[in-house]
Amino acid sequence: MSCSSLIYLLLTSLLVKLVVVGSSNFSRNDFPSDFVFGAGTSSYQVEGAVAEDGRTPSIWDIYTHKDKTNGDIACDGYHKYKEDVKIMKDIGLEAYRFSISWSRLLPYGRGIVNPKGLRYYNDLIDELVKNGIEPHFTIYHLDLPQILEEEYEGWLSPKIIGDFTAYAEVCFREFGDRVSHWTTLNEANIMAYASYGSGEFAPRRCSQPGGVYNCTAGNSSVEPYIAMHNLLLAHASVVALYREKYQAKQKGLIGINVYAFWCIPLTNSSADVAATQRATDFYTGWVVNPLVFGDYPKIMKKNAGSRIPSFTKRQSELLKGSFDFMGLNHYFEAYIQDNSPNSPKSGPGDFVSDMNVKLSVTKEEMPPGPFLPSSIPYNPSSLQNVLKYFRDYYGNPPIYIHENGFGAPYNETLNDTGRIHYINGYLESVLAAIRSGSNTKGYFLWSFLDVFELLSGYDMRYGLVHVDFEDKDLKREPKLSAQWYSNFLKKSAEVIKNSENMNIKKISHS
Ligand SMILES: *[C@@H]1O[C@H](CO)[C@@H](O)[C@H](O)[C@H]1NC(C)=O
Ligand SMILES: *[C@@H]1O[C@H](CO)[C@@H](O)[C@H](O)[C@H]1NC(C)=O
Ligand SMILES: *[C@@H]1O[C@H](CO)[C@@H](O)[C@H](O)[C@H]1NC(C)=O
Ligand SMILES: *[C@@H]1O[C@H](CO)[C@@H](O)[C@H](O)[C@H]1NC(C)=O
Ligand SMILES: *[C@@H]1O[C@H](CO)[C@@H](O)[C@H](O)[C@H]1NC(C)=O
Ligand SMILES: *[C@@H]1O[C@H](CO)[C@@H](O)[C@H](O)[C@H]1NC(C)=O
Repeated sequence: MSCSSLIYLLLTSLLVKLVVVGSSNFSRNDFPSDFVFGAGTSSYQVEGAVAEDGRTPSIWDIYTHKDKTNGDIACDGYHKYKEDVKIMKDIGLEAYRFSISWSRLLPYGRGIVNPKGLRYYNDLIDELVKNGIEPHFTIYHLDLPQILEEEYEGWLSPKIIGDFTAYAEVCFREFGDRVSHWTTLNEANIMAYASYGSGEFAPRRCSQPGGVYNCTAGNSSVEPYIAMHNLLLAHASVVALYREKYQAKQKGLIGINVYAFWCIPLTNSSADVAATQRATDFYTGWVVNPLVFGDYPKIMKKNAGSRIPSFTKRQSELLKGSFDFMGLNHYFEAYIQDNSPNSPKSGPGDFVSDMNVKLSVTKEEMPPGPFLPSSIPYNPSSLQNVLKYFRDYYGNPPIYIHENGFGAPYNETLNDTGRIHYINGYLESVLAAIRSGSNTKGYFLWSFLDVFELLSGYDMRYGLVHVDFEDKDLKREPKLSAQWYSNFLKKSAEVIKNSENMNIKKISHS
């Protein structure tokens, strides 16, 4: 299967067929006391109220309005945040990971702060803090103000660095007294590739070879590399600002987020083993190597040649060490096969042909084209392997699992036993990693509520809490997994083990 359809899978279609309810022999108390457990959402996926109180469109508003569904209303989190924080509190979430809509706070992308946007985020943060829930704040989760896309093509221009830094400074200044953890960018690697290489993400730019759409503009050979360069420099600029002006006083931590899947060679041939390292370098190293070692992986520079920009000595120094933690989004492993025999001998390369691997999520070759498999492998040790890789290769930085979760079809019931089994397995994997020395500090489920999924709309649900999108009040109801997570966080292992007949109603709220 193509790499592009893999991205589609990653984000839309975790349909794991499982029936057994996990009953744990471990509980929250087995994790370090300063370890934090939460769940997450992102602004465009949860807030709705897209044209209210001064918010202007982001690139995702424009993108989804060409399609059949959108986040115009989503979960209406903009109006229902108090109810939502109450549900978090009832479940016992220790932290909430959310992002801010840049164009709600700064409708022109820079300059004038929208007082109503400012009030919304202040109210949300206050409500979290009042309920003892730590705000983990993502500054940018894919939703660039459309006005900056139109003005200078967003992340393709170095102008974004100044604007992103100024935007982040508004966040530090206004919210920093209450925010403990800042993440500059969500899934920088997927963002650069899917927005500018395959064209699956807004602003849907791509060209051939590389694009999976007939994009109206773009250049898949060079734009993903240019975008990543600006993303990294913008990240480093924001971290430098936070460290210089805010960190000593506000005492928060700042990091970045990367999509990390675990790559396994399909066979033990030396070609597949080498291809697996190459895939890891292209996906994870693209973001993490510059931050740890000050430069892109050697193999990327070799294969992309002049299409990948270079860092100056000063930029490289600014990048190196520009994080207090790494945020990882992890869902599953990928089998990697060398693709060199099939690689084009001439013509422009792109991210996929530079990486030159075949990727699949099962050992069997998957049919080409857009499709949703009915099941994907469930193998929680993949997370432990990713954490081990960060421990051994990147010097064991503090890590927050920012996303991990179980997607089910829109009509799943509240009795979501598959999700419970999934969470139980992955938590056990995190615990095992910690016991073998990984510096992992937190775990956030994707997602707190069923939200508007960026590529699958309302067809896929990941939430601990069910949202009835047909109901005009968008009624929330905790699923069995919410009850399980609640028990895990509040009770001993013995109780969790014997809680197969848990009553969902227990944490339903008024
Ligand atoms: C839980 O039990 C399983 C099976 O007996 C064992 O493999 C695992 O290590 C145990 N986990 C913990 C955290 O003790
Ligand atoms: C792109 O355009 C070609 C030629 O018109 C068409 O065959 C193909 O289906 C289009 N692809 C997509 C993804 O729309
Ligand atoms: C993409 O940009 C490169 C470098 O500027 C150029 O050689 C190539 O022709 C461009 N490709 C497309 C499809 O415009
Ligand atoms: C590759 O070798 C390892 C270690 O010898 C073994 O565990 C694994 O099953 C082998 N994988 C394949 C696909 O043959
Ligand atoms: C969900 O819908 C699919 C078809 O769209 C159906 O096959 C399946 O049985 C439904 N599941 C439930 C739990 O209703
Ligand atoms: C929930 O699902 C499991 C497994 O599918 C089943 O054994 C159990 O009876 C169901 N519980 C309820 C309350 O429907």
